[in-house]
Amino acid sequence: MASNSPSKKLHLNLFMLSTGHHEASWRHPGTNPGLAADFHHYARLAKMAEDAKMDSIFLADKYRLNAMTKYRVIPQLEAFTMLSALAAVTEKIGLTGTASTTYYDPYHLARKFASLDHISGGRAAWNIVTSTGDATARNFGKDRHLGHAERYERAHEFVEAALRLWTGWSEDALVLDQTAGIYADMNMIAAANFEGKHLSVTGPLNLPRSPQTVPVLVQAGSSEDGKSFAARWAEVVFTAQPGIEEAAAFYTDLKSRLKRWGRKQDQMKILPGLIPFIGDSEAEAKEKEHELNALSASEYGLYNLSALLQTDLSDCSLDGPLPYERLPAPEQVQGQQARFRLYTELARKEKLSIRQLLIRTAGGRGHFTITGTPIQIADAMQRWLEAGAADGFNLMPPLLPAGLEDFVSKVVPELQNRGIYRAEYSGRTLRDHLGLAVEPGVQYTE
Ligand SMILES: Cc1cc2nc3c(=O)[nH]c(=O)nc-3n(C[C@H](O)[C@H](O)[C@H](O)COP(=O)(O)O)c2cc1C
Repeated sequence: MASNSPSKKLHLNLFMLSTGHHEASWRHPGTNPGLAADFHHYARLAKMAEDAKMDSIFLADKYRLNAMTKYRVIPQLEAFTMLSALAAVTEKIGLTGTASTTYYDPYHLARKFASLDHISGGRAAWNIVTSTGDATARNFGKDRHLGHAERYERAHEFVEAALRLWTGWSEDALVLDQTAGIYADMNMIAAANFEGKHLSVTGPLNLPRSPQTVPVLVQAGSSEDGKSFAARWAEVVFTAQPGIEEAAAFYTDLKSRLKRWGRKQDQMKILPGLIPFIGDSEAEAKEKEHELNALSASEYGLYNLSALLQTDLSDCSLDGPLPYERLPAPEQVQGQQARFRLYTELARKEKLSIRQLLIRTAGGRGHFTITGTPIQIADAMQRWLEAGAADGFNLMPPLLPAGLEDFVSKVVPELQNRGIYRAEYSGRTLRDHLGLAVEPGVQYTE
């Protein structure tokens, strides 16, 4: 497919996850699960992504051990520690870390991101999550996780408070006058003085303004509350979309909500997940996908599906349909409402048995999965870009590092030849890569 709108360029983020995004990736002979908590494994992935001129790398984070760790490799190196170490071995690529508004306090979190932004020379981004599950709450001295609406209410307050902390130091606050003995102009350092229903913080931060002032704000909520939150704050949105039509509807819906907050369409980049199974022929790609699916454990899939659907499926036949009559209404789901809808709609639409649904979601948990040659994959990416279904992709290779090696050596050059993806970085900060200014609303105003 020839490029007919080279002015539109793809943004690419690498979602780094241990041995890969396929749930059985760790059992594949091409991966080494022993390296899943080894920093050098991630350093190698980050450098590969940087050589391919990707916008950023991303680390997800949860604060509990997955109950099915018996069946899946899930080490969770802590995001700030890992990204600070990766900052030292990379130069240009953005560093996106996850942190929860439910379990952090604004001062603590704002300081960590400001530190990461200083350490990396302006490459920090925050994936804002509200977390899920009572098991997480119990790791923080609480019995129950906050309900969905309350979590988002707290998240709104949290971001407001963090923005006040990040912007408290004026650009001119540092005097650095060694002769006069004046380090900082205290009139140029404003308190945050945030008082909300859930949170309060006085400030100011004990760090000067960081290179980006505000880390790039990333979010992946897909429920109504999640989308309202994104419309107000998110500059990058991760989302799970099974196909181009669903993605285009989501894209149009979310971008249309920006006006309400005085924001322009290009102040938000929407990056749906992309799981590519890449082969030199279509048959080879299909074989790779089949090989991984065959290594999946149905106990693992069934447990996760039960948790997602808030319904115990252990008494169901794998070859029968989902017990639709027993499922809760989507708005009653306290966990991931959008993923609940995605899975149930997929199963209904395609009349999938539970086993078929497990296979369909084993590789990418409902994200867009494409199995084909580098040309076919580049064609699809270009189609999504030009159809207004995506501003780029959150790349989720099924196997790591092999799937990333294939992508950067085979798909990236194809995208570059079409003029829809950068061949060089033109800026220094992550905001430069993404073409995002600091939002006008968050400039220092005292
Ligand atoms: C690509 C992607 C990455 C995510 N990473 C995390 C994560 O690291 N930690 C987390 O608690 N939730 C994570 N989530 C979940 C979202 O933050 C959000 O809770 C979820 O999409 C459900 O939306 P809702 O909260 O609006 O119901 C992620 C979602 C997506 C699509």
